[in-house]
Amino acid sequence: MQFIVNGERHELTLDLRTSLLDLLREKLGLPGTKKGCNQGACGACTVLVDGERINSCLALAVQYEGREITTIEGLAEDGALHPLQAAFIEHDGFQCGYCTPGQICSAIGMAAELSRGVPSVVTEDLAHHAELSHDELRERMSGNLCRCGAYNGIVEAIQSTFAGERAP
Ligand code: FES
Ligand code: FES
Repeated sequence: MQFIVNGERHELTLDLRTSLLDLLREKLGLPGTKKGCNQGACGACTVLVDGERINSCLALAVQYEGREITTIEGLAEDGALHPLQAAFIEHDGFQCGYCTPGQICSAIGMAAELSRGVPSVVTEDLAHHAELSHDELRERMSGNLCRCGAYNGIVEAIQSTFAGERAP
């Protein structure tokens, strides 16, 4: 099978039952994506596929053959951290760091959803695009848990990076 991860092509033989998370961590040596619950409840394994966030523990790798997969290892460009990675450092958006790659990938996918005008369950006015308000941010990031409770810094980092993000 062929996979494109962080812009690099990989060709390998794989058991069809392998999850995307296990492909990344065990076969491709990319341990940045974390295995928390391994059942879709914590968000630690969030990666981007063609810019959309997914839980890689619930995904069979074979479904994503040929798609553009981006992990935390692929966000920096030319040695410079992604602005959200830098903001997590600036705002103390982590303690142990286990949930951090998932939080960051999820927030990038979330900002893209917002800018496409995708509503959430707390969006009141479906005729207009939502802004990244207090409630929208918390609802849209509710699938990413932080057992250290570093939520204040996480929210500040996301807000400082994506404030004003919405569809044109
Ligand atoms: S490890 Fe995938 S959601 Fe928890
Ligand atoms: S920083 Fe430890 S789980 Fe979030």
